[in-house]
Amino acid sequence: MDVLAIGDIEKRKGAEALLIPFYEGVKTPRAAAPLGSLADALRAGLSSKDFSGKRGETLLLYPEKGKESRLLLVGLGKEGELSTDTLRQEYAGATRKLKRLSQLNVAVPNVAELRHFSLEDAVRAIVEGVLLADYHWTLETEKSDRKALTSLTLVGLDPKFISHAKRSKEVCEGVCLTRDLINGNSYEVSPDYLAKVGKELARRFDSVETTVFDEKRILREKMHLLYAVGKGSKRPPRFIQVCYRGAPRSKDHTLLVGKGVTFDTGGTNLKPTGAIETMRGDMGGGATVLGTIAAVAALNLKLNVTALVPSAENAIGSDSYKPGDVYTSYHGKTVEIGNTDAEGRLILADALAYGVKNLEPTRVVDVATLTGAVVVALGEGLSGLFSNHDDLADQLLQSSKATSELLWRLPLHASYRELLKSEIADVRNVAGRAGGAIFAALFLESFVDEVPWAHLDIAGTSFSTKEKGTTPKNGVGFGVRLLVDWLENLEKRDA
Ligand code: BES
Ligand code: ZN
Ligand code: ZN
Repeated sequence: MDVLAIGDIEKRKGAEALLIPFYEGVKTPRAAAPLGSLADALRAGLSSKDFSGKRGETLLLYPEKGKESRLLLVGLGKEGELSTDTLRQEYAGATRKLKRLSQLNVAVPNVAELRHFSLEDAVRAIVEGVLLADYHWTLETEKSDRKALTSLTLVGLDPKFISHAKRSKEVCEGVCLTRDLINGNSYEVSPDYLAKVGKELARRFDSVETTVFDEKRILREKMHLLYAVGKGSKRPPRFIQVCYRGAPRSKDHTLLVGKGVTFDTGGTNLKPTGAIETMRGDMGGGATVLGTIAAVAALNLKLNVTALVPSAENAIGSDSYKPGDVYTSYHGKTVEIGNTDAEGRLILADALAYGVKNLEPTRVVDVATLTGAVVVALGEGLSGLFSNHDDLADQLLQSSKATSELLWRLPLHASYRELLKSEIADVRNVAGRAGGAIFAALFLESFVDEVPWAHLDIAGTSFSTKEKGTTPKNGVGFGVRLLVDWLENLEKRDA
């Protein structure tokens, strides 16, 4: 897909549509971008009172002549209230209304005098809005048809800003990879399929190396928790390591760990109807860290990042692991299985302990669709953030703000730790129902020792039941933009 910039609006090439931003006006909305000779074509539409420039409003016009067969006026709301997320969401909403066009011209508002944010940030938000909305998935949609756009021209943008647009394009590609993985049927997106995606990244980028442990190796490495969770399935577990080295001489190393449960039936503690239908998305965290590596490698960031994806299908059957079983984790602690539906924390515990012991990470972030409790607490709009390190938590919150992928920090309340005690093992994988997201996080914390660590519980945000703005139905790709922004900040800090 081509992303282009053309400074002089009159010099743009034709496309199927041009999107033109407007601020809300009392009588007639005020164009937020230079109109040039388009002003005439718009006069009738603007005086019709069908469009006032409010957020969420659009007006589609079919001009008799001109370079585009469609003009779409896009309301940005009050000029003084404009934010980057307004741009992202409104350009996304507008793109959705035009659905399935292949060439789009998009006018860039002159935000220079607003000073709330830079033109770079505006360009990023606009490109993200358009490209995140240019994604269409149903079970029948071929991969090649999931995106319609072949060219996006930013009209009224000095070509020197094009690098920001291209950067956002790469990030959106990562988001869409994550979405594809979440959306695919679990019989296709198996642990071995995720492993192949990891290997594909190594083929695409010289800077990426991928290692996969099969079920025999998982057992030999003594990742008994991962092995146990995967045991009941015909599709065996995999442990996937994708290493990106963008700063080979630096010892700084960020570890990302993503939950890769390709289907969560709940196991012997079977999930009820109503809770099971979307569980092909239970590898959302794994998909997020793979999408992040794809973006980071495409952007050639000068830092080292490894993604670990412990992956298994939590199936039900006579070979499945059972409540009451006790397993020795990779870390060495024994774990009593109180509930086979609390499987995510088990496979993450082995991956976290493996990463901390073998990869000398400077910091660790795990991403997981971990608990129903976080959905109850925060809904579909925010993910839970837990961390043993305030500075790391603040960095992530800053990136959350910058990308509008929302996080809310929740406590690793120390006195709850004893509720995870077991009579027959060192720990149990569940405690009470109340405060469930905290117990899951406390369980993970006990496997990272003292390394700066943060945990994102994306159970509510990874999979969406309604389409709105940049959020599609089904797989959202939550976390990729946030993690890339955070890693870019780390890169800048270390430079
Ligand atoms: N995969 C689920 C969590 C989940 C719930 C993800 C809703 C997405 C949407 C996880 O493995 C799970 O089942 N957790 C249990 C834990 C309980 C048994 C302690 C839960 O949250 O109910
Ligand atoms: Zn579960
Ligand atoms: Zn799960």
